[in-house]
Amino acid sequence: MFSQLRRYILTTLLLIFCLPRSHWACTLNSGAQEKQKDWWQTGQFYQIYPRSFMDSDGDGIGDLKGVTSKLEYLKDIGVTAAWLSPIFTSPMVDFGYDISDFYDIQPEYGTMDDFRELIARAKELDLKIILDFVPNHSSNESEWFKKSVARERGYEDYYVWVDARYDENGNRIPPSNWLQAFRGSAWEWNEQRQQYYLHQFTVQQPDLNYRNPAVVNQMKRILRYWLEQGVAGFRCDAVPVLFEVLPDENGIYPDEEKSGLTNDPDDRSYLKLDLIENQPETIDMIYQWRQVMDDHQRIYGGDTRVLLIETYAPAWYTMQMYGNSTTEGAHLPFNFNLITELENGVSATKVLKAVDDWLLNMPAGRTANWVMGNHDRGRAATRFGPERVDAMNMLVMILPGASVTYQGDEIGMTDGDVSWEESKDPAACNTNSSIYQKYSRDPERTPFQWNTEKNAGFSTATQTWLPVADNYETVNVEVELAADRSHIKVYKSLVELRDSSKTLQYGDWKYKALNENIFVVKRYLSGSETIIYISNLGDSAETIDLTTNFDTTLPETMNIKISSVDSKKTEGSTLQLNNISLEVGEGLVLSTA
Ligand code: NOJ
Ligand code: MG
Repeated sequence: MFSQLRRYILTTLLLIFCLPRSHWACTLNSGAQEKQKDWWQTGQFYQIYPRSFMDSDGDGIGDLKGVTSKLEYLKDIGVTAAWLSPIFTSPMVDFGYDISDFYDIQPEYGTMDDFRELIARAKELDLKIILDFVPNHSSNESEWFKKSVARERGYEDYYVWVDARYDENGNRIPPSNWLQAFRGSAWEWNEQRQQYYLHQFTVQQPDLNYRNPAVVNQMKRILRYWLEQGVAGFRCDAVPVLFEVLPDENGIYPDEEKSGLTNDPDDRSYLKLDLIENQPETIDMIYQWRQVMDDHQRIYGGDTRVLLIETYAPAWYTMQMYGNSTTEGAHLPFNFNLITELENGVSATKVLKAVDDWLLNMPAGRTANWVMGNHDRGRAATRFGPERVDAMNMLVMILPGASVTYQGDEIGMTDGDVSWEESKDPAACNTNSSIYQKYSRDPERTPFQWNTEKNAGFSTATQTWLPVADNYETVNVEVELAADRSHIKVYKSLVELRDSSKTLQYGDWKYKALNENIFVVKRYLSGSETIIYISNLGDSAETIDLTTNFDTTLPETMNIKISSVDSKKTEGSTLQLNNISLEVGEGLVLSTA
């Protein structure tokens, strides 16, 4: 009898915990209310791509004075901290991600004085500035690389140098089959040094050797140098590729296996990436950088300096970046799930999976974050469709944790048209005119659209470095701010709500895909208002009953706080929860307050 009862209880528990989650499952967070949150846990992060943000001197290229002149704009839309893609001295092969002097500013962007002015003005406005830290590689024009090629003392092992292999005919071949991100071998022969060097990105971006303590120290020195200039932290570039596996005792690097994902042998995804990404040593290096940040704060005081990590790694790896029970790591490893998991179209069930994949894997006590776009992926409005921009901006702001906006997504900028002849991105230029569009990152990097003037108000130049997108006369800051309803107004209302709502900052959450189209999030906190986000991400109109299908404890009506641009529903009016009709792309934020 007892054993039967025990078996019954065990089976029930097994069923509850081990059954695969239904696709339309509902996720409930049971975390207790937390202590006072720090600025980065509830803040709005904003990515500036300086080359395309604002040009102050009419050369067609954005610059630091341009950024400084627009800081008030960032303040006005409610940004907490802006991170700048690289502004350091660079031959611009990969537009600043190939740095030749990590301690100075690229002349076409300005001077160190311009940078100090930017920091000072940001401080006056209470805006935080975060820099891009590119630890994996330098430019081949850096002094370090030149010295390393020449085997100068102290620089011999600054990069990953390896002897050649030879095939049966005596031809020189690279040390392994590893592929770089922009097509072709990750190894380049250097005539002078008579060795190959590793480059996970372009030939002009040699990988630094993190197994050399002098490199580790140099890179920490760079962090300290810019912290001393008053920056609030770093976005760390390409972190999962920092370390590669060690060669064997004969100095031979093992080959990667084929992935089976593509037949194109020059495409990086032709091979698995087990040996050149996601190594355990990289996690430790993040923890070491965190120590640098915390030491700086302890010594100089002030607000927390943050580490944001660029990572497209799987959850088992990314989640370790946060730290463990004894050691702190990154404040926020970027969560790109809303980009990577929605690449082939958006639906409520795909969004559910993207959200689950972060929140259900995140270690307790850590802070989530939501990124919808960046300078490496097509524009959100192009990927999701302009009619879904508001619904997606709402999602990023209503889900728990920090929100991250790529410049222009607040006004619904779409991908610009960039022809093969106009292409600048090495990811495109390393291909050919028939396939470049699949690889090019130029369309999401076209100049920011400020107004209806020449070059969308970005520059007075005859020609800008990339062409301005065609739709700038309707999609721009000035026109949208003057309109009754616009993407930027939705965005600003969302930020205002986040800033004022304890529920959004501290509340628990529950979310559900009601079907393929409808996604709902509830945020709630004892003693505060309840907030509901609901959107139709599908391709057909829907009418739904939220009280029976989602949460029976909801009231009969709630107030419409924010509605997407094309919605016919009036903000400030009440909405019957058992009968909500939603057009394609329509998004609503409701509140009990
Ligand atoms: C990631 C950056 O976001 C991308 O733009 C760059 O090309 C690579 N890292 C290499 O630094
Ligand atoms: Mg300029």
